Amino acid sequence: MRTQVAIIGAGPSGLLLSQLLHKAGVDCVVFERRSPEYVLSRIRAGVLEQGTVDMLEQAGVSERMRKEGLPHDGFTMAVGDTRLRIDLNGLTSGKNVMVYGQTEVTKDLMDAHEARSAQVIYEAENVTPHDFETDHPRVTYEKDGVSHEITCDFICGCDGYHGVSRTSVPKAAITEFEKVYPFGWLGILSYVKPVDHELIYANHPNGFALASMRSETLSRYYIQVPAGTDVNKWSDDAIWDELKIRLGAQAAANMETGPTIEKSIAPLRSFVSEPLRFGRMFLAGDAAHIVPPTGAKGLNLAASDIHYLSNGLIEFYGEKSSAGVDHYSQKALSRIWKAERFSWWMTSILHQFPDLGAFNARIQQSEMDYLASSHAAQVSLAENYVGLPF
Ligand code: APR
Ligand code: PHB
Repeated sequence: MRTQVAIIGAGPSGLLLSQLLHKAGVDCVVFERRSPEYVLSRIRAGVLEQGTVDMLEQAGVSERMRKEGLPHDGFTMAVGDTRLRIDLNGLTSGKNVMVYGQTEVTKDLMDAHEARSAQVIYEAENVTPHDFETDHPRVTYEKDGVSHEITCDFICGCDGYHGVSRTSVPKAAITEFEKVYPFGWLGILSYVKPVDHELIYANHPNGFALASMRSETLSRYYIQVPAGTDVNKWSDDAIWDELKIRLGAQAAANMETGPTIEKSIAPLRSFVSEPLRFGRMFLAGDAAHIVPPTGAKGLNLAASDIHYLSNGLIEFYGEKSSAGVDHYSQKALSRIWKAERFSWWMTSILHQFPDLGAFNARIQQSEMDYLASSHAAQVSLAENYVGLPF
């Protein structure tokens, strides 16, 4: 088999890339080791930057998002009983974010691929990139016990943090940066009315909490828990009680509670690997970087990589120019590090660190005081939250 671009991973990065390349007439095949049902079973975040919304529009998969997504003009930060609303729309002269689950984005991309019988090979085993240091890269894989090989011009590793692409790169050719936080987020989904029409980020002496949503009837909540916590130790009632404490009296008074339909703990980590290109192979999305979810940047950063990579590849085939692919790594990394900085900063000011110490506790408080008293500080927060320009 032969194709122009072989894409490893059918998560949001791989499918968005494949959809944009298809629209530009570039041939590609996607390899995914899991089943479609498994890919859709993963619960992830749900706040989309304007840039990501525009890309989904460009990819022709925005219809359901436009109908079911919730545009948000702001959100609230609560520290103790201080509640500060961040007016995203006002502070960024009209920009906002779209609350629409990553699972829904992935589903819309999958449906678009199915509708055009696109080549997405699910349950592909032992997918392996080869010869990407040469001009003749190829990918091998097994399907139903039969081995296959495909030759291509480029390989795009969109296979997440635990994927094969990054680990196929010789250690000496790659540099990794990591910061592990001493806590995780216990997240729940429940068919109850959201406690507020906007998101609430809270820093309480008991720890961080977040009130988010998927729709006007499906709520998503998170509480900070120590790293290594056993999720079974947290009953639904205990979680609702803790949410009422951490989100403050006003939220507690409005909070509708009910049985959880999903409950899991995600560790918090910042991770970047450099560079993003190894000959004829590119890394994008979680394959190259992880952000703590506090800044809602995970999916948006993946989309940002795909913005630069898809443009570079389309330029390569359309205008026979390699300028875009040659600058992909540097351009994408510049935006990645800004999102890593923002996500680290949001995490630092909104969580309780076991070894915070009195001085740092004062600094956290003064970060909030400065934010509450400075328009410039709020503009900086807002422009990062809605997404910095590509
Ligand atoms: N072979 C084929 N597919 C693989 C392999 C492999 N060896 N390893 C992983 N995959 C698949 C996974 O099963 C998954 O479906 O690659 C896909 C990677 O998808 P994601 O992990 O969702 O990564 P990405 O598409 O970059 O999306 C990033 O996901 O984790 C969130 O916060 C993150 O929102 C961000 C988004
Ligand atoms: C979510 O809705 O899952 C969500 C929202 C905002 C975040 C993180 C997660 O910062």
